[in-house]
Amino acid sequence: MAEGAIDPAELGGRLVGSGADEVERAAEAALRPKKLEEFVGQQVVRDQLSLVLHASIARDAAPDHVLLSGPPGLGKTTLAMIIAAELGTSLRVTSGPAIQHAGDLAAVLSSLEEGEVLFIDEIHRLARPAEELLYVAMEDFRVDVVVGKGAGASAIPLALPPFTVVGATTRSGLLPAPLRDRFGFTGHLDFYAAADLERVILRSAGLLGVEVRHEAAHEIAGRSRGTPRIANRLLRRVRDWAQVRGDGVLDLHAARSALQVYEVDPIGLDRLDRAVLDALCRRFGGGPVGLTTLAMMVGEEPETVETVAEPYLVREGLVARTPRGRVATAEAWDHLGLEAPPGTWAAGAAAVEPGTSQAARTLFDEAEGRDPRP
Ligand SMILES: Nc1ncnc2c1ncn2[C@@H]1O[C@H](COP(=O)(O)OP(=O)(O)O)[C@@H](O)[C@H]1O
Ligand SMILES: [Mg+2]
Repeated sequence: MAEGAIDPAELGGRLVGSGADEVERAAEAALRPKKLEEFVGQQVVRDQLSLVLHASIARDAAPDHVLLSGPPGLGKTTLAMIIAAELGTSLRVTSGPAIQHAGDLAAVLSSLEEGEVLFIDEIHRLARPAEELLYVAMEDFRVDVVVGKGAGASAIPLALPPFTVVGATTRSGLLPAPLRDRFGFTGHLDFYAAADLERVILRSAGLLGVEVRHEAAHEIAGRSRGTPRIANRLLRRVRDWAQVRGDGVLDLHAARSALQVYEVDPIGLDRLDRAVLDALCRRFGGGPVGLTTLAMMVGEEPETVETVAEPYLVREGLVARTPRGRVATAEAWDHLGLEAPPGTWAAGAAAVEPGTSQAARTLFDEAEGRDPRP
C-alpha cells in the first residue's frame, strides 16, 4: 500500500465495506467459528492447515510458522484463533502498525511462553527494524536485547522458547522475501462461493437465534461480495428489518426490503460503487479516465475510490484499470441499464473462468506492473 493510503480495514461504517470497526468486532466475536470443522468453505486451506496442526500435535512440538493472506473479511483472524484453540494453547495478538519500534516487538517476544501462538495482523506493515528482529526470532528462537547507547551499546542474546508466529496480510506481495521465507506454510484465502456464504449465513442465524428462510440466505449471499464479514453484517441488517417492520422471520421479502433500505443492490454494489460507475459511463462515455478526475466527480478522495470501491468493481468485471485510466466494461453499462457504445470491451467475453472476471484482474495486474496471477 502506498504511503498515506487508506487501509480498507480502517474504513468502518460502510455497509458493504470489508473492514470492521469496534462495535462490529464485538458482534463478530460471537459468530466466529472456534474449531477448524466449523470453518465454512476454503477446503484447500482447511485441509492443509489440518495436516500442519495434527502433525505438530502428534510430534508434540510447535508447528511451523503460518502465513495467512487474502482480502479483508475472509477469515484470517478467525483462523489464527482456531490454530491456537486446536493446539490447546493461548493466542497473543499484535499487529504491524501497533509495533512502532523493534523494542516493542522484543518485549512481546521475550514474554512468550512455550508453545504459544503469536498472531501478527497486517504483518506487511511492520517497520523494517522490527522485521529484522522477527527473522531471527522466527528462525533461531532468539532476540538480541540491546543494552546501552551509542558506541558502548551491546547486544545480549536472549533465548526464546519454541513458539509459532501466525502472520496475516491483505498484501502478501508487500512482504519482503526473507520474511516470507520464514513461514513454513502459507494459506491463501480467496473470495467465497455464494453457496459457502449461504452456509455462513445459516450458521450465524442459528447463533443469533433468528429464523432465516433459504431463499433469504441465498439473496443475502448473492449481495455479500464473496465475503463472510459482509454476509454477517447484511444478515444483521435484515434481522433489524424483520423485527421492526416484519414478523421477525427473515424471508425473501424481508431480505429484499432491508437491502433496498440500505441501498445494497442485487450484486452487492452500494451508493459509492454506483456513483463511480455512473460517472464513468454518463460523464466520461465509459473512459478511460484518470483516478483523480473520477474521484472528484463523485466527491470522494482518490484513495477512497481506489481502495474502497474499485477492487470489487474490477473483480466483478465492471471496471478495468488500464495504463490510460479507468474504463467501464460492457457489463457496467448493462448494469446501469444503459447501452454501451460500439467497441466497448466486455470482461465476460475474454474471461478465462466465466464469472470470475479473470481477464479484468489480469488487466488490472498488468496496469499495476505486477505479474498477472496464473
Ligand atoms: N469460513 C468462515 N466460516 C464462518 N464464518 C466466517 C468464516 N470466515 C470468516 N467468518 C466470519 O467473518 C467475520 C470476519 O472474519 P475475520 O477472521 O475477522 O476476517 P479477516 O481477519 O480475514 O479480516 C468473522 O465474524 C467470522 O466469524
Ligand atoms: Mg482480521
